Amino acid sequence: MSHPAPLPKAELHLHIEGTLEPELAFALAARNGVELPYATAEELRSAYAFDDLQSFLDLYYALMAVLRTEQDFEELADAYLARAAEQGVRHAEIFFDPQAHTARGVEIGTVIDGLSRALDRSQERHGVSTRLILCFLRDQPVESAMETLHSAVPYLDKFVAVGLDSAEVGNPASKFADVYEEASALGLRRVAHAGEEGDPSYIWEALDVLGVERIDHGLRCVEDPELVKRLVFSRIPLTLCPLSNVRLRTIDTLADHPLPKMLAVGLMCTLNSDDPAYFGGYAGDTFDAVRAELGIKDEQLRELARNSFLASFLDDDEELRAR
Ligand code: ADE
Ligand code: ZN
Repeated sequence: MSHPAPLPKAELHLHIEGTLEPELAFALAARNGVELPYATAEELRSAYAFDDLQSFLDLYYALMAVLRTEQDFEELADAYLARAAEQGVRHAEIFFDPQAHTARGVEIGTVIDGLSRALDRSQERHGVSTRLILCFLRDQPVESAMETLHSAVPYLDKFVAVGLDSAEVGNPASKFADVYEEASALGLRRVAHAGEEGDPSYIWEALDVLGVERIDHGLRCVEDPELVKRLVFSRIPLTLCPLSNVRLRTIDTLADHPLPKMLAVGLMCTLNSDDPAYFGGYAGDTFDAVRAELGIKDEQLRELARNSFLASFLDDDEELRAR
């Protein structure tokens, strides 16, 4: 039986380090002489049972030890793009975490040049257009974020935006006001994770203090009717990641996800995979799961896919070509 072609979509919330599949982690560990505290890929995969965001982040950062050379970053990104293409992704805006690499002695140029080698060939090889988004780790000091921004200035033609990720609670957006102001002055677009584990005040700050154009996650906006009004009125896109929310136990089951309610009140939602190697599904799997378990209808799936292109950083011509 032939399967219908997957819905064309853009992926706007994807951490490239979160696409490191256990098999690739072991291959890179062998090549780079890095010891992993697991005997096999299967054993590693069985460690993917998380209690919350922090328990995931601990493993996520530890496994990055295998990423050392430009070739490693290139192979990581190429493997993601091949998989994304199979699942209908036509455009990907990809986060990377430079501080997680520079802290281990890997230079930012190694990361950006390696990723760029895969991204530059992606349209031709996989039919996927791409952009890079440099993320700051919000649980690191603001001085480190500022240094990271300055060290990335020679690569300004390689990324289009800045983002904010890692442990949210206790690390509000306002901590990064100066960094975002400088990024904006450099001509960079702005996004930030907010309202994943943090309460609605984290989303207000991302909007009002950092001036972001999109909110990554934004799940907890539903607790604040005034905030929902603001997001609807301003058509601020939310890059939702339902499989991530279940795996990190922000919600109990997919059936509890507020996506149907969010669509019903007019929020501009998009569907994304976040860290697909860890959370059990890529972009197409995410669309399939919300259809199967949340009763999202085909027309709404098409709306979610349309939103993903509208909310992207592509200009109008590029966007039409990508669809
Ligand atoms: N880094 C990678 N995945 C993340 C997530 N879901 N939230 C915050 N930081 C992250
Ligand atoms: Zn994320």
